[in-house]
Formats: sequence, structure tokens, C-alpha cells
Amino acid sequence: MSVKTLAEIRADFPILERKVHGQDLVYFDNAASAQKPRQVVDRISHYYLHQHANVHRGVHALSQEATDAFEAARRRIADFFGAASDREIIFTTGTTNGINLIASSLGKMLEKGSEIVITQMEHHSNMVPWQMMCEDRGMVLRVVPIDERGQINMEAFQNTLNSKTRLVAVNHVSNSLGTINPVEEIIRLAKGVGSLVLIDGAQSAPHMKLNLKELGADFYAVSGHKIFGPTGTGFLYGKEEVLGNMPPYMGGGEMIDRVTIEKSTYQGLPFRFEAGTPNMAGAIGMASAVDYMEEVGFDFIQKQEEELLQYAIKELNNFGGIRFIGEAEKRASLVSFLVEGTHPYDVGSLLDQQGIAVRTGHHCTEPVMDFFGIPGTLRASFAFYNTTEEIDRMMVALDRARKMLS
Ligand code: ALA
Repeated sequence: MSVKTLAEIRADFPILERKVHGQDLVYFDNAASAQKPRQVVDRISHYYLHQHANVHRGVHALSQEATDAFEAARRRIADFFGAASDREIIFTTGTTNGINLIASSLGKMLEKGSEIVITQMEHHSNMVPWQMMCEDRGMVLRVVPIDERGQINMEAFQNTLNSKTRLVAVNHVSNSLGTINPVEEIIRLAKGVGSLVLIDGAQSAPHMKLNLKELGADFYAVSGHKIFGPTGTGFLYGKEEVLGNMPPYMGGGEMIDRVTIEKSTYQGLPFRFEAGTPNMAGAIGMASAVDYMEEVGFDFIQKQEEELLQYAIKELNNFGGIRFIGEAEKRASLVSFLVEGTHPYDVGSLLDQQGIAVRTGHHCTEPVMDFFGIPGTLRASFAFYNTTEEIDRMMVALDRARKMLS
């Protein structure tokens, strides 16, 4: 159990108290962005009000203090996510940034004709960078299909791998289907053909305890704002022996070893990939979000989220006329669905009028919507601070919406 009760946890998130359109807010859009506990905001505020100076640059005490706080945040992230060393943690602006970093850097290293393997259920941010890389650099993108339940076709995945496969890039948890992918098996098979593996961890990190060293992926990208931290933050984990041998992404201050007019040499990890003044307050805030998650505890997080998921599925089944999109055997705490005879946008707008925040649309996964032949879905995505009473409120609001639309 958590050291805190659910009521105490909810009290840490003042936004959960507010009203929207005159109704108590029910926030079910956590997969898009999670809310922030007061502790994270206070930590960022303390940094700005009492500790701020530029890092890694000055001899003065404040710069040293800011550097210490920033590097302590890196160690905290490395430790929490089970990296072998803090050099393996590159601060980014989010998952998209981490994936683009690898696409850009790896693109300079791979020979033409190399194959990059992704799946049909990737978020656009784990699809478009590879399309761009293949177009620019003469590589080949191979896309593994999904099945009707919204799971990767593992037989097709195995058949796609071959001696030209250089990178497999797959999400750990699908943002539009909720599927938890068998990444351990995917990594094992990819390693069998000598491929690198990148995991998009945007939707897994908020829900499960990760040990990146044990998992064995070469790269793992996470967004800070989805793990209850500030926006514009994130990190890219990269195995030291792999990332340490890759060329830089952006050039600028911080990332160089020596610069002459003719040529520059670069720093080692992690600074080679952190050009420019970093988002110190953001990194410190993200580390404080990790402290918060640890305080709540993954036992509580997983128990609460599983209860919410099962309750939502049961209630939606009882409601009738629901088409679920994504019914994988292993699922994270979100439900993507359609209400028969209605458009998801109309239902989403009517839920909003009643204070219920869900996401509607293609969720940046248009190929998934194409596969199911639909324009989009309604998506209710839960966090550990949500309650079954809030799901009851959503069901009442859904009923009203359906009546109004029929
Ligand atoms: N990728 C985020 C989502 O699924 C924004 O909503």
C-alpha cells in the first residue's frame, strides 16, 4: 500500500478540485498529459527562487549549486529507471525529441539499404522520424502489422527481421489502444539478428516500474510531463557502449571538447547530446516527480489503475452499444472506444460540457485508425489519482450524450 491514502494523494493535485463548465472536473486525459502534484511545482519554484544560475560553466558558488542540483536530478533518474550509469541519461524535451535524436544520429552511421522495423501501432513520433530518415538516407522502413485486438503480429515481426535489420523501434505501451507490448521478446528477437532496439516509453513509464539495464533495449525514450513532471522535459536512455559511439545530434555550447575555426571535437556522454543551456528547472522538476511516484509506490499505482481499467470495461459493457478499439490481453489503464451511431468528437464535446475530460480523435496514430476503418476514438486514460466514482460520472455523462445525439 501507499504511505498515502487516495484522498491524500488527490489533495496533492489542486487541479482535481476545480470546476469545468460549472461541473467538478473529471480528468481522464492522462495519456495526453498527467497532472502535477504540488511537490513538483514547489521544487521547481524553489529552484528558480533560490538556486538558479547556468550550469557547468561558472566558478561561482551559485553555478556550482545549480550544477549539483541538475546532476543530482540526472543521478536520481538513472537510479529510478535502473540505468547502469548516469552517463546513460540524456535530458531531452520529451519522447519525440529522444526519438529524433537517435534517428538523426543513427542516420549518419547506417549504410544505405539498412532496414528499420517499426509497427503499425506506433505513435506518429515513432513513425515520422524514421520515414524522414529513410527518405533522406536511403534506408528502408519495414512496418509490422497488428491484429484485430490491437496486438503486434509477432509471427510477422519475426519474419520481418533479417540480416539487414539495423534498428527495431517499438512502443512499450500503445497510446491509442492501451496494449502492453511484449518488449522483452521483441528485444530478444531483434538481438538475435544483431539489431539495435529503441523503445518508446512515453506510455509505459507512468504505469510500471522499469529497470532499463535488465530490459536490455539500447535506447528508451520517456516524457517528463506524462510522469507527473513538467512539460518540455524528458530523457533518453542509451546504453553507454552504443550511444557513446554515436555522433552528436545538435551542435553548440556544452557538447564540445575543443573548438577551432576549422574543426571541433566533442564531449563524451551525456554532454555530447546536450547542446545549449539545458532545462535545469525541468530536469529537477522531473526528478521530483519521480520522488513523488516512489512515495505513492508502484504497488498502489498498479492496483488502483487495474481496478479503474476493469471497472471501466465492466461499466462500458453494461452500457451496451460500445465498440472497444484495443482489446489486448495485456493492457495499460486506458479505454479507447466508440459509441454506436455517434461520432467520437460529438460525444467528447458533450462529455466536456459535463466536466469530463477525455481525448477524441486519432491520438497521433492515424495508421491505427486506418486499420480499424474509423475516424478516431474516445479515449479515457486513467492515473492513480482517479476513482471509480469518476468513472460513474463518466457513464452518466455518456448516457446523457447518447440520448442527446440519438
Ligand atoms: N501522445 C499523447 C496522447 O496520446 C499526446 O495523447
